[in-house]
Amino acid sequence: MSLEITINQVEQTRISSYDIENVGFGKVFTDHMFSCDFIDGKWVDLRIEPFGKIPLSPTLSALHYGQAIFEGMKAFKNEAGHVSFFRPLENLKRLNFSAERMCMPTLTEEIFMEALQRLVALDVNWIPVKSGSALYIRPFMFATDDFLGVKQSETYKFMVYACPVNAYYTHYLKVKIEEFYTRGAQGGAGAAKCAGNYAAAMYPTKLAQQAGFDQVLWTDGATHTFLEETGTSNVFVVTKDAVYTPELTDTLLAGITRKSVIEYLKDAGKPIIEKHVSVSELIKWHEEGSLLEMFVSGTAATLTNIELFNYKGKDYVLKMDIDLLSNQIKIVFNDIRMGLIPDRFNWMVALKEYALINQ
Ligand code: COI
Repeated sequence: MSLEITINQVEQTRISSYDIENVGFGKVFTDHMFSCDFIDGKWVDLRIEPFGKIPLSPTLSALHYGQAIFEGMKAFKNEAGHVSFFRPLENLKRLNFSAERMCMPTLTEEIFMEALQRLVALDVNWIPVKSGSALYIRPFMFATDDFLGVKQSETYKFMVYACPVNAYYTHYLKVKIEEFYTRGAQGGAGAAKCAGNYAAAMYPTKLAQQAGFDQVLWTDGATHTFLEETGTSNVFVVTKDAVYTPELTDTLLAGITRKSVIEYLKDAGKPIIEKHVSVSELIKWHEEGSLLEMFVSGTAATLTNIELFNYKGKDYVLKMDIDLLSNQIKIVFNDIRMGLIPDRFNWMVALKEYALINQ
């Protein structure tokens, strides 16, 4: 038997107010949202309602002490109208990892998947089909106790909303390799997708952007000598010999796109190495001409190339007029998502037919 979710549909969709194929990123939201509450040790009151503001008390503990986590994932619709999610169970796994790290309750697969299925089924017309576009889905959880003291909240809210999106980055990136500020420290919460990691990154990112860069490329907090990730995505370094990406530690986010790139490259027989990549190695590869390409990977960012990195005030420019590996991977990922080639990795999860019937 499927889970009981109360559904309160909008009387009138807002979709005709938008050109959903051309909406940019993160500004337009679909008609509905999912919510449920964690009370007395159980997730209760599962519901889908019209998208809108929610009442919050000024004492809400998430606002003060930051127990707040989120995920980013996408659903795709192909020309034939077939809808599928990209690796949703990986998002659930990471959400539950973040929840454990932040002393928050976990979600069952049933609640997570039913929330996604029902919400996307209701708002299926909001999924753009243009290449590079998708329905971005934001599951998130936050602490809701009304209490001033610092302690783990006993109550939480889990919600999901969605928005049609085009590309997050519309140009190649210029990144500043960070030498002073730290995103994640050993033993810290860098591997959790928690709101505080993004808040703490804003000031160094603002400084980098004021200096003309798009993003900070973080380095390890202890020595500032090894690459970690950018503020929105993981990073890959392509040399003549191999593709490298920083190995996972408790300081960086285990990206699902990162994992997919690694799986694809292994399957394609290309040498892919997960290891600590030092800034000095990167500069040596650049100077000797063996550095071919750098790209970032993320749900929002997809795969986006880095055209320049800056270290200690010096710019290192990458040639962009080559046959970019990132483009080859993007084509394969797009073809899998659109059902144009077989999904040999079993990444896609179809929108269930029962859900579509509910419309
Ligand atoms: C994502 O890629 O989904 C993220 O959560 C990154 C965010 C900065 C948009």
